Amino acid sequence: DKAGHKHFMAKEIAEQPTVLGHTLANYLGSDGQITLPDPGIDFTKIDRLTMVACGTAYLACLTAKYWFEQIARIPVEVDVASEFRYREPPIPSRTAAIFVSQSGETADTLAALRYCEGKADKIVSVINVPESSIARESDLALPIHAGIEVGVASTKAFTCQLTVLLMMVLKAAHVRGEISDDQLADHISSLRGVPALINTALEQNKAIRTAARKLSEARDVLFLGRGQMYPLAHEGALKLKEISYIHAEAYASGELKHGPIALIDKHVPVVVLAPKDSLFDKTVSNMQEVMARKGKVVLVSDAKGLAEASEGVWASIEMPESPDIVAPILYAIPAQLLAYHTAVAKGTDVDQPRNLAKSVTVE
Ligand code: F6R
Repeated sequence: DKAGHKHFMAKEIAEQPTVLGHTLANYLGSDGQITLPDPGIDFTKIDRLTMVACGTAYLACLTAKYWFEQIARIPVEVDVASEFRYREPPIPSRTAAIFVSQSGETADTLAALRYCEGKADKIVSVINVPESSIARESDLALPIHAGIEVGVASTKAFTCQLTVLLMMVLKAAHVRGEISDDQLADHISSLRGVPALINTALEQNKAIRTAARKLSEARDVLFLGRGQMYPLAHEGALKLKEISYIHAEAYASGELKHGPIALIDKHVPVVVLAPKDSLFDKTVSNMQEVMARKGKVVLVSDAKGLAEASEGVWASIEMPESPDIVAPILYAIPAQLLAYHTAVAKGTDVDQPRNLAKSVTVE
């Protein structure tokens, strides 16, 4: 049931404020503290994390790496499951392995998990289907409570994965003494604010559709982001290519001048994800290098960022201002909606893109 929407993907994008509210409610106790189901992870006995997944779930891991390293000060390695499983990396002691999968049945992710059995101190999964193979074979399975996701392109599962991973990060940071009780309470209150922020972001639907109609004429699109926006740039590019069939690539803004800037001309739109955070000025200077070469910039930022940097851009999309820590969850919305409206403008099959399956149970 599409609940009045034209596509399951549109419905699943729109229901994120509600669904995310459920995810939070499932992990936040009545005392306001984060509760992970038993047997939890003792983060004081873990020196290192390895995170493995495919596709969008991999990009959730890549985002979580920034959080785990910056907030909890735990070093994290992230890999795509198909590479990890055959590289057979050494797993040092005091390592927890985290596997993220919406379906819980992805063949490569399951194989990577089995490789870690008996090697990692703890096998943790973040899944949407609690009775799935990956959940059953984990020491600890954390459900994301996203509800059934029908659209082949993952949307609400991604933001719920990020939410659960961020709660793990906060829990880890707190027990390791990296953040105080007050800081923890502040971060939890930022998390509680996310459903309302997503609602505000969804109100930009029309502006995003206007930008998407322009993108639908392009043959190639670049996405740029720095820091925790870099994985989001990848998510924007992945969504766009899988449902609109437009070639899209993501780069870390700072990598632009090491090659990809050669691609820029007036035919190449560049989507820049840049909340007004401590890295904003650096990203904007990369954006200006694009504009100096006649690249067409779609700038996604907040009111302060747009006031400072939107002169001369091709299109701008205004996100609400948000605490830095939750910005990746929020910026998933324009990434999803840009792809969605571009695909609708092109008339492609949004919910069932060609050559793709919802659950990839073969290698
Ligand atoms: C992209 C997408 C895929 C999946 C990937 C992993 O929109 O949906 O990239 O994220 O196939 O699937 P799960 O999460 O089921 O392991």
